[in-house]
Amino acid sequence: MESALEWHTARALLEWQVEMGATEAIGDAPVDRYAMDPAPAKPKPAPAVAAATPAQAPVRSVRPAAPSIDHVALAKQMASGAQDLDGLRAALNAFEGCELKKGARNTVFADGNPAARVMIIGEAPGRDEDIEGKPFVGRAGQLLDKMCDAIGMGRAAPLSKDAVYITNVLPWRPPQNRDPKPEEVAMLLPFLTRHVELVAPDVLVLMGNHACQAVLGKRGITRLRGQWGEALGRPALPMFHPAYLLRNPAAKREAWADLLSLQAKLRELA
Ligand code: URA
Repeated sequence: MESALEWHTARALLEWQVEMGATEAIGDAPVDRYAMDPAPAKPKPAPAVAAATPAQAPVRSVRPAAPSIDHVALAKQMASGAQDLDGLRAALNAFEGCELKKGARNTVFADGNPAARVMIIGEAPGRDEDIEGKPFVGRAGQLLDKMCDAIGMGRAAPLSKDAVYITNVLPWRPPQNRDPKPEEVAMLLPFLTRHVELVAPDVLVLMGNHACQAVLGKRGITRLRGQWGEALGRPALPMFHPAYLLRNPAAKREAWADLLSLQAKLRELA
């Protein structure tokens, strides 16, 4: 089976060849161009009056442009038509506007209890999530589970009051875990927006800069974290991403303060 890496590598090579001027694919069988019709005779020089027209750029063959599709509008239409989470998952699976999908093994939709009061939004699936088809199952996910557990919550909790529901800004793994591109986020935001509407949590928790940028329109997590704001019509708490906490264990102190703030907010809203 073609791997994600092979797909993206092959595409990058092809784009490079087009950039270098390649205009046609070479066939499997050799072509004897000496046996072909000679080149058409050169046209006679143009009459003197034509010399007054400006010099023409060399004519290159141009493929007719494919009709461009407005993928953001299409995403909005598909997402808004979803009446429930199964419908939204199906709409996302049917959406072909994002190249990331071609390189991904799985569409990573969500995990946890859809009746949860807390909806956690991460960035994008990594390698483990791409393989399993669930968000936050790698090392960062294990830390996220411990963080939730520390305030008596979890994705497997049967009662909505103790449960969390988890998704990401992007449902497909970016190649080599690169950052999401703004156009990818813009294209998939209608699905995330509808996802939040359908789950209707009491609060959102935004893990890291990319989640904050996508739904708050702001980044700078060191300044934003711990400060309640509003995103997609709900109270939203930016927090350090668990992957950041793995690299910077000293920041767990701030993460703990944010978890207590989340717990207090849930009590206040209950
Ligand atoms: N990081 C994220 O932001 N989301 C995941 O699902 C896994 C790691």
